Amino acid sequence: MSTTSQYDFEVMTNEQVAQDVWCMRCHTDLAALLSPGQFVNIQVPGNAAHVLRIPLSFSRTDAKARTLELVFAVVGEGTRRLSAMQAGQTSTMVGPCGKGWQLPTRKGRALLVAGGVGLPPIVACARMLTQAGVGFDAIVGAQTSDKHVDYLLDELRALAPCEGCDCARKVLVTTDDGSRGIRGFTTAAMRNMLAEHAYGTVYTCGPQPMMAGVAKLAASAGSDCQASLERMMGCGFGACSCCNVALASGGYALCCTDGPVFDAKEVAW
Ligand SMILES: Cc1cc2nc3c(=O)[nH]c(=O)nc-3n(C[C@H](O)[C@H](O)[C@H](O)COP(=O)(O)OP(=O)(O)OC[C@H]3O[C@@H](n4cnc5c(N)ncnc54)[C@H](O)[C@@H]3O)c2cc1C
Ligand code: FES
Repeated sequence: MSTTSQYDFEVMTNEQVAQDVWCMRCHTDLAALLSPGQFVNIQVPGNAAHVLRIPLSFSRTDAKARTLELVFAVVGEGTRRLSAMQAGQTSTMVGPCGKGWQLPTRKGRALLVAGGVGLPPIVACARMLTQAGVGFDAIVGAQTSDKHVDYLLDELRALAPCEGCDCARKVLVTTDDGSRGIRGFTTAAMRNMLAEHAYGTVYTCGPQPMMAGVAKLAASAGSDCQASLERMMGCGFGACSCCNVALASGGYALCCTDGPVFDAKEVAW
């Protein structure tokens, strides 16, 4: 495993890809060291008072070209300034941070469940599974149609189906308000999927209440479940103890070093 360290990056492109959602592609040597589900901690330039870095997962890396793709929602000052960074601008990011997705240990198809900007690490997970020859179905939810990141949905659909598998891949799209796809939460769609198929492992990233529901459904179906958690973060490498995750066994883990991906059974949801 690579040691966490600080790397320079240069913005290649930065463009809006959905309502309040941006995609930044950047050039950095860190790209060659990242595994799917890990994250980077970004210094956004331009405001000396804003000392905290922004933790972000990524949707794609290219180790050879040393490029990294981040997809992020603008929710506050840091992400607003990140969305304003222009091609050619430079800053630093810390990484590789945390533990990422694990390949399934249980046989069978995987089910991916993403909510909102939980989609980027789920797309990275889908690539990892495809490379390992593991088939998957996916459920991708957003509040409204405008918040869906279309190009990531297309990438999920376009990943090659697993070899020797004759079942067509399903990528179900949901919206809370019914403006696209199935109306309602991803968990309702998941309940229907579980009634039709058995899944070896469920991978999920999204709002905490959604992941709590996904973890519960996966457990009742006898599937393994890996969940990528979000916490407010400071350092991103285990030094400030501000990113606690309560454990089902009692005690706490650190989201930034023990996660962000956890075995859902270990988390006190
Ligand atoms: C491991 C990890 C991976 C992440 N990956 C992504 C990603 O791929 N795409 C993406 O859009 N976002 C991701 N996030 C969330 C992202 O880091 C926050 O949205 C960002 O730090 C907000 O910064 P800000 O200065 O814009 O907002 P602030 O002004 O700091 O906060 C605005 C709002 O966002 C909430 N918020 C701030 N930080 C976090 C956080 N770490 N987790 C949850 N809510 C937060 C605050 O409570 C507040 O309501 C990730 C977070 C973690 C911990
Ligand atoms: S963010 Fe500092 S310990 Fe996790």
